[in-house]
Amino acid sequence: MKVELRILRYLPERDEAPHWERYEVESDPMDRVLDLLIKVKAEQDGSLSFRRSCGHGICGSDAMLINNRNRLACRIRIDQLGKKISVAPLPGLPVVKDLIVDMSGFFGKYRSVKPYLINDQPEPERERRQSQEERAKFDDTTKCILCAACTSSCPSFWARPEYVGPAAIVQAHRFIFDSRDEGAAERLEILADEDGVWRCRTIFNCVDACPRGINITRAILEVSSAIVGRRG
Ligand code: SF4
Ligand code: F3S
Ligand code: FES
Repeated sequence: MKVELRILRYLPERDEAPHWERYEVESDPMDRVLDLLIKVKAEQDGSLSFRRSCGHGICGSDAMLINNRNRLACRIRIDQLGKKISVAPLPGLPVVKDLIVDMSGFFGKYRSVKPYLINDQPEPERERRQSQEERAKFDDTTKCILCAACTSSCPSFWARPEYVGPAAIVQAHRFIFDSRDEGAAERLEILADEDGVWRCRTIFNCVDACPRGINITRAILEVSSAIVGRRG
């Protein structure tokens, strides 16, 4: 089948503004959007730029706006989209070129919540033990692949780019509720800031966008409750 693929192209050194370009691509219904992008680059325009690595929904590098929703190009199939497909870079992040956005601010926020185990106690002889119930408390948020589909679909983030965003809160949640970690107070302090969790207006775009099906709003609520509980 033939698919009409519209791609928002932008080369800052050459173009005054982003503009749509149209490509006709021969496709199989089971192809992914990433397959079409690779085909366009190989057969029609070698200058088309986009990020990808694993091709299987694991690395998080090819999130983009596909038919007006943030999705991973390597996961979404043509038969789920139809014969007219539009592809644009993730909204709310500066465009470097074509579908490549500048992720430095996104990763800066990720680093700001200390996304690593904090525990100054002497190392035990064997592992730091954890029960299944303790592990279950943060199981959902371990699934995050840092694709930025959530944060870049959030109207609160568009309105205030300083908002730490759902992805960073998910990453903080993963450690705050880990029984082996002792950095919860530090992280909750950071997220109680004016650009922390209170910026969330429960709009739910983040949940719709997450390719890992993480219950992001529940994670945000649990972090907010922990902040309130700490104050009380
Ligand atoms: Fe991507 Fe989901 Fe992680 Fe957000 S929470 S960065 S959408 S995997
Ligand atoms: Fe934004 Fe998700 Fe909250 S879309 S406002 S972080 S529920
Ligand atoms: Fe790795 Fe799509 S290429 S998630």
